[in-house]
Amino acid sequence: MSRFDKVINRKQTDSVKWDYTKKIFGVENVLPMWVADMDFSVPEEVTAALHSRVDHGIFGYTMPGTNMEKAVQSWLKKRHSWEIDTQTITYSPGIVTAISLAIHAFTSHDEKIVVQPPVYYPFFEIAQKHEREVLFNKLILNEDFRYEIDYDDLEAKLSDEKTKLFILCNPHNPSGRVWSREELTKIGDLCIKHNVTIISDDIHSDLLLFGNSYTPIASIREDIAKQTVTCIAPSKTFNLAGLQASLVLIPNDSLKRRYHDVQQLFGLLSINTLGADAMEAAYSYGERWLDELLPYLEENVVIIEDYLKEHLPEVKVMRPEATYLVWLDARSLNKTDKELQELLLKKGKVALHIGSKFWENGEGFLRMNIACPKSTIIEGMERLVTALKA
Ligand SMILES: Cc1ncc(COP(=O)(O)O)c(C=O)c1O
Repeated sequence: MSRFDKVINRKQTDSVKWDYTKKIFGVENVLPMWVADMDFSVPEEVTAALHSRVDHGIFGYTMPGTNMEKAVQSWLKKRHSWEIDTQTITYSPGIVTAISLAIHAFTSHDEKIVVQPPVYYPFFEIAQKHEREVLFNKLILNEDFRYEIDYDDLEAKLSDEKTKLFILCNPHNPSGRVWSREELTKIGDLCIKHNVTIISDDIHSDLLLFGNSYTPIASIREDIAKQTVTCIAPSKTFNLAGLQASLVLIPNDSLKRRYHDVQQLFGLLSINTLGADAMEAAYSYGERWLDELLPYLEENVVIIEDYLKEHLPEVKVMRPEATYLVWLDARSLNKTDKELQELLLKKGKVALHIGSKFWENGEGFLRMNIACPKSTIIEGMERLVTALKA
């Protein structure tokens, strides 16, 4: 039995996933397989670090120092062969916060931002809230059922003289694609050619499945690094989202200064004390736990593939190369997203994200969170199939 088989009751813990379905979906008692956190407890070394800080009993202002920098630096080197200079590190409560600050720092009102839908919806929602125009470089589904980049369209959008920012999602949420070195080099070259700053949201980069490896776009070449702001965090990797501690890496001094000014403007220069301790412990001692987690997630993917093949082959599974989010293609059922959602919530009593949330070209897809014990996965599949066969 794996430690990840344990079912932990998260109800009545103010969990967004478990306690807010009524508020978000309008129904109660549904199995939540939507928002991206895990139903697993964190590495024991992280819990121990938190206990130790709680027992200390003082929670004053915190600014992580050398130990944290070293922990992050050696994590990136060991896991991804990426050597970073600790001078490039700055902190953020979350990645969405970091992206929002970057939009404020690097664009002005009449300027444009490029994203690649279907994609994590805050990318375009936040940009629009900042009243920036968003240009959508739609990903293309090829005949192998994999997303690819339309480079001609990307270049057309980057070459618009008002375009100042490109937001990359690597690995990509919701599809689970890990962009290759070749693909990232093409993106980097185009952004350099047209002088567009890259925000690379690499929050899912430690969750690599089925032998895939991750290339940070900033690791490819010095000139690309100098034009890139990379966002990473232990929040997805180790299930620490509620502790609000993330990292932003900016090797370009001028970009770093501009970003720093905006951090200062909004009072976001330091991070949460417990979050900092958890982050340091996770990067220092969490590796064994992660190495047990990844095969467990792979098994969950295979369960879903097999289950659907047997019970509902019309729904196709896009096997993720990374992350615990699985993109399901339900287009052949010929239902609108609204109809799919109704069936899932009312007939199946299961909550997933519908594809159009990730932009209009996600219509007909569903995003399922598989970071839960196998017994929950099986229950979720039964509910999904009941709903979609109805
Ligand atoms: C690609 C991506 N970026 C950012 C986030 C959220 O990050 P944070 O909670 O640190 O704002 C998520 C959460 O699902 C995500 O998938």
